[in-house]
Amino acid sequence: MTLDLFETDDASSTGREALAPGAVVLRGFARASAVLLLAEIERIAARAPFRHMLTPGGQQMSAAMTNCGPLGWVSDRRGYRYEPADPQNGHPWPSMPESFRRLAHDAAAAAGFPGFAPDACLINRYEPGTRMSLHQDRDEPDLTAPIVSVSLGLPATFLFGGLNRGDASDRIALVHGDVVVWGGPSRLRFHGILPVQEGTHSLLGRQRINLTFRKAT
Ligand code: SIN
Ligand code: FE2
Repeated sequence: MTLDLFETDDASSTGREALAPGAVVLRGFARASAVLLLAEIERIAARAPFRHMLTPGGQQMSAAMTNCGPLGWVSDRRGYRYEPADPQNGHPWPSMPESFRRLAHDAAAAAGFPGFAPDACLINRYEPGTRMSLHQDRDEPDLTAPIVSVSLGLPATFLFGGLNRGDASDRIALVHGDVVVWGGPSRLRFHGILPVQEGTHSLLGRQRINLTFRKAT
């Protein structure tokens, strides 16, 4: 193990960093549960494989995605929406593990949003070079529930913008185990991920995995 990875995994900070009203980074919040989360992600991906969805414009998305929970976020030429079944095989999305629910609930509570009960978990997989362009999470009818976003594996730079696409974005370095929560007045802020840098993570290898928990009903 290189010193670099050692520092990333074992010596990075804990605690909270406010980003904006209703938005906070919980440093290291998921670090202790990462091994358990990864085992669950493998189980989920065995049943609902990662795939590159098409945007409504017909372009392949850069990150590979799958879902767990009662509803899964999908994109294709018909648009963005939530579906109870995986369009690739017609089966319900794999169930949301209790460890996922608890982590999301506890992170939301720590960020000031008690009682968060996600019914959708989008799982994004980034290989080096992969990015996610600036967007809003706005396919959910209940905007009182926050978004809870868990980072695992390779580090990334998170862009956190304003309520208009053209607003300036803050750049936040996220590492393995960090959790970002945004809700309330920040719920519709634009956000994205800069291209992930080349690297090898001690647990995940050449990838970053992001879990995005939402209440989609
Ligand atoms: C997303 O906005 O869906 C993903 C954000 C991230 O990968 O951290
Ligand atoms: Fe998003």
